[in-house]
Amino acid sequence: MPLFDSRITSALQQRREQGLLRTLSPVHGGNTAQVKIAKQSFTNFSSNDYLGLANDDALKEAWKAAVDRYGAGSAASPMVTGFSYAHQELQDDLCNWLGFEQAVLFNSGFSANQAALFALLAKNDCLYQDKLNHASLVEAGVLSPATQYRFPHNNTQRLHDLIERNGAGLVVTEGVFSMDGDRAPLANIEAQCQKQSCWLMVDDAHGVGVLGKEGKGSCAESSIKPQLLVVTFGKALGVQGAAILCSSSTAEYLRQYARHFVYSTAMPPAQAAAVTKAIELTRTQQWRRDQLSDLQHTYSSLIGDLPGYIDTQTPIKPYLVGSAGRAMSLANHLRQQGLWATAIRPPTVPKGKARIRVTLSANHKLEEISKLAQSLKQFEFQYAKEDC
Ligand SMILES: Cc1ncc(COP(=O)(O)O)c(C=O)c1O
Repeated sequence: MPLFDSRITSALQQRREQGLLRTLSPVHGGNTAQVKIAKQSFTNFSSNDYLGLANDDALKEAWKAAVDRYGAGSAASPMVTGFSYAHQELQDDLCNWLGFEQAVLFNSGFSANQAALFALLAKNDCLYQDKLNHASLVEAGVLSPATQYRFPHNNTQRLHDLIERNGAGLVVTEGVFSMDGDRAPLANIEAQCQKQSCWLMVDDAHGVGVLGKEGKGSCAESSIKPQLLVVTFGKALGVQGAAILCSSSTAEYLRQYARHFVYSTAMPPAQAAAVTKAIELTRTQQWRRDQLSDLQHTYSSLIGDLPGYIDTQTPIKPYLVGSAGRAMSLANHLRQQGLWATAIRPPTVPKGKARIRVTLSANHKLEEISKLAQSLKQFEFQYAKEDC
């Protein structure tokens, strides 16, 4: 089909010319604090394995034991025969941990976000989203029948004004923003929603496990309870999948109408059992969050004065460099020193806001943080010299 051939060729050519072509780099073994890529070992500052659970022995054993009990896959969608006692136990544990009546399971955070918006929104509804919300949310908003309004990042006054002008609806924010590592002013947003009769949905993909007592996440830490809370299992929990936590009636509605739930094979029961184990480890092993907090302090004390440093209260530490070309140069410089930190470029972030997205993990050692800080300083020094 010539139309598609030429579309593909020119789109790839455009990405190449803009220096924005992304490439896959397969890792040997697991994605831990150390990775081997193309026969070279690196300290990995690019995973979302904040608590260091992805390769934890107890977690791996739990998954293996559940494979023996339940088999490899679920073999059906949840409403057919794909829902098992392992899924039931995971739902119950999520509710118990996070304080909601019900949890609806999905295969990914992307599908949970899309399912929630597509199932809930109808024509003439208003949807209010933070400008920096994840692609899964923004895209679902664009494709939904509702009218989408995007408010400037974390700006509750502008959110208030938009609702005032257009009417009540659904407000969606992330708890911790994935590319910037900063947190939403959840208490203010919830108060705003209550005053203006809106529902609140929080995507806490990067907050759950990391923030709050027992890692309950951004909402518990801000003492709020949204109508919809999305948590993902592929980041701090070290596994894969997601859930929407909500009231019993909302869960019942989602199980009837959310197409990503009804028409998709359920996650393997062994995976559900592994997530249940990950929740237990997350709740009980506070030392992982303590270690993460120590590493964050060390990192900011070492490079807090560098121009690209952005202070955050989370293990996501963006290092802003501006142009996509400079972000690639910095990523290459770090690689030469045995450090893997991916350059994040447009369209993932706005033009001129390219960055290295450094993420810390409880499995990092202090020496590794010092080496990263040293390499960033060296890069800035070289760059300043070239500029003179
Ligand atoms: C804020 C946010 N929400 C949702 C997702 C999607 O989650 P998943 O990777 O489980 O599809 C991501 C993943 O990058 C994310 O950062």
